[in-house]
Amino acid sequence: MTAVETSTEEKSTGEPSKGEFRDVMGRFASGVTVITTNFEGEDLGAAASAVSSLSDEPPSLLICLNVTSTTAQAIVKNGTFAVNVLAEDSAPIAQRFASKAPDKFATIAFERGHADVPLIAGSIAHFECVVDETVRGGTHLVFLARVVRVSSKPGNPLAYFRGSFGRMETAPDAAALHAVRDYVVAAVTDETVPLDAESIAAELEIEVGRTFQALVALTNEGLVRRAGGTFEVEPVPDEVIYDYYAAKLAIEVGAAAQTVGSVEPEQLAELRRLLDETLGFSVDEQFSDPKGWIRANADFHEYLVGLAGSVILTETYKGLQLPSLERRSIKPSTKATTVLHDDHKAIVEGYENGDVELVLRTLAAHNRRPQEMREGDGMV
Ligand SMILES: Cc1cc2nc3c(=O)[nH]c(=O)nc-3n(C[C@H](O)[C@H](O)[C@H](O)COP(=O)(O)O)c2cc1C
Repeated sequence: MTAVETSTEEKSTGEPSKGEFRDVMGRFASGVTVITTNFEGEDLGAAASAVSSLSDEPPSLLICLNVTSTTAQAIVKNGTFAVNVLAEDSAPIAQRFASKAPDKFATIAFERGHADVPLIAGSIAHFECVVDETVRGGTHLVFLARVVRVSSKPGNPLAYFRGSFGRMETAPDAAALHAVRDYVVAAVTDETVPLDAESIAAELEIEVGRTFQALVALTNEGLVRRAGGTFEVEPVPDEVIYDYYAAKLAIEVGAAAQTVGSVEPEQLAELRRLLDETLGFSVDEQFSDPKGWIRANADFHEYLVGLAGSVILTETYKGLQLPSLERRSIKPSTKATTVLHDDHKAIVEGYENGDVELVLRTLAAHNRRPQEMREGDGMV
């Protein structure tokens, strides 16, 4: 097969149709604005993404509006408008101004700027403009305009891509979210301790604003909840815990498939020692020392994965931070069934006898235990 045949790129043969042009143009991601104006006491506005910086001396920009737009027709007459750059939570405002509703401003908070033009509250930027020149381009009017006043405030923009609204995430935003998510999952064991954006930002050496945004994003993921003006850790949802165990199982099975049958005697001896360590932390089916169990259990399982001799696999496994997750989900009241110990014993037996089937079967059963224990009378 040639490179051309395997490519998923589509090329039009001639001038694109209107639909094709729109579809391909939609791949140019943009922000979303509302162009507002006031003509003879009436407020008008249209959602617009065709906005571009034009020159900085004098400061000017251009907007493109369809000739049928009532907002465009008003701007032709009064020569003034404002560009309101919408914030990421403003999709409903964009939708309202993309409609032909007669009362678009009825539920919208705004102030008045130059020539009484409405400035929509909550926008992350306003450009107040006076038209210099109007050019017709196909179905649209291009207004080239001088910017006479600007204002801005912190916040992320509403994005528009292929017909859908979304968030614009920069690389530092994504890195901050990743770091704060790890911090919340790994470092916080007490759900009642407030999560303070400033101290987390200082500890992780990221901007406070980004830390705050990350905490807001984590509320959507169900890891964090808002508590008044601050945040608290949300108890880890069961599905998230099961997802972690599914990943854990995949790694352990992969490692076992590579190693059972070829483990050195001294490694087996170490495995048995680690097994014995895990047996000492429960009394009468309760965890006598949950933290001790979590550590010993992690050492046992990490050793099994380590036998595969892959640094990357071991680091990935450790990166799951299961001990931290378990510190939040296993309490002294959590039932410590002997089944867990039996599983560990069977796994070691399987390694000792080169019985890969026993190991894989037991690992699968073992990683289902948290779910069984929760669904039964188990974990609190
Ligand atoms: C995200 C988005 C971007 C838009 N961008 C433009 C644009 O750049 N130019 C335009 O003429 N219409 C654009 N529209 C469509 C107008 O908002 C729509 O035609 C509106 O009804 C015009 O209102 P009016 O006739 O009251 O001025 C856009 C719509 C959406 C949802």
